[in-house]
Amino acid sequence: MEKLQLIPATLDHLSLLRHWDEQPHVLASDPNDDWEWEIELARNPSWREQLIAEVDGKPIGFVQIIDPADEESHYWGEVPANLRAIDIWIGEADCLGQGLGTHIMRMAIERCFAAPEVGAIIIDPLSSNTRAHRFYERLGFVAIGPRQFGEDKCIVYRLDRANWRAQRK
Ligand SMILES: CC(C)(COP(=O)(O)OP(=O)(O)OC[C@H]1O[C@@H](n2cnc3c(N)ncnc32)[C@H](O)[C@@H]1OP(=O)(O)O)[C@@H](O)C(=O)NCCC(=O)NCCS
Repeated sequence: MEKLQLIPATLDHLSLLRHWDEQPHVLASDPNDDWEWEIELARNPSWREQLIAEVDGKPIGFVQIIDPADEESHYWGEVPANLRAIDIWIGEADCLGQGLGTHIMRMAIERCFAAPEVGAIIIDPLSSNTRAHRFYERLGFVAIGPRQFGEDKCIVYRLDRANWRAQRK
């Protein structure tokens, strides 16, 4: 396989991230959020990593990992310590459906569980994004139930460390 790596997102990626935001497959998965890239790429809070996925040096997608208990808007509400939450998308439409998202997600999951205190990862795909549900289920995520975030009707999914490690044996 090609060389896949996650590198920190910076202001150098601003126009690319804005371009990806306009792609129909990205919009469909996240129609209501303004990521305020020009502000967020310029800062580096301790509770967050914003990463660009590159294949052979070409940026193809974005991953965000947060500690939802510390995240400052409290998007996830009251959640226990020692969780992580992930957002992911492939920006380049011609890179969809080739296994790259699975590979990137495995790297992101390993990155989360590299911190020994992290017990589980949570995700909030839209209820309508049934293809993403299948994607997460194949990785071992389990549906916890529906939840409304602002205007978005979502299904919360969770992957426990023990489940992930058991799969990897
Ligand atoms: C979800 C996503 C990261 C998966 O990455 P990928 O490289 O396309 O996926 P893989 O090739 O590793 O695996 C294929 C599976 O991904 C999912 N997938 C493929 N294209 C998708 C799309 N446009 N939207 C949502 N999920 C998609 C499906 O489950 C697919 O399996 P299927 O063909 O049996 O339906 C990627 O498709 C994507 O960025 N989709 C749009 C944004 C999105 O939905 N992000 C998740 C928000 S919670």
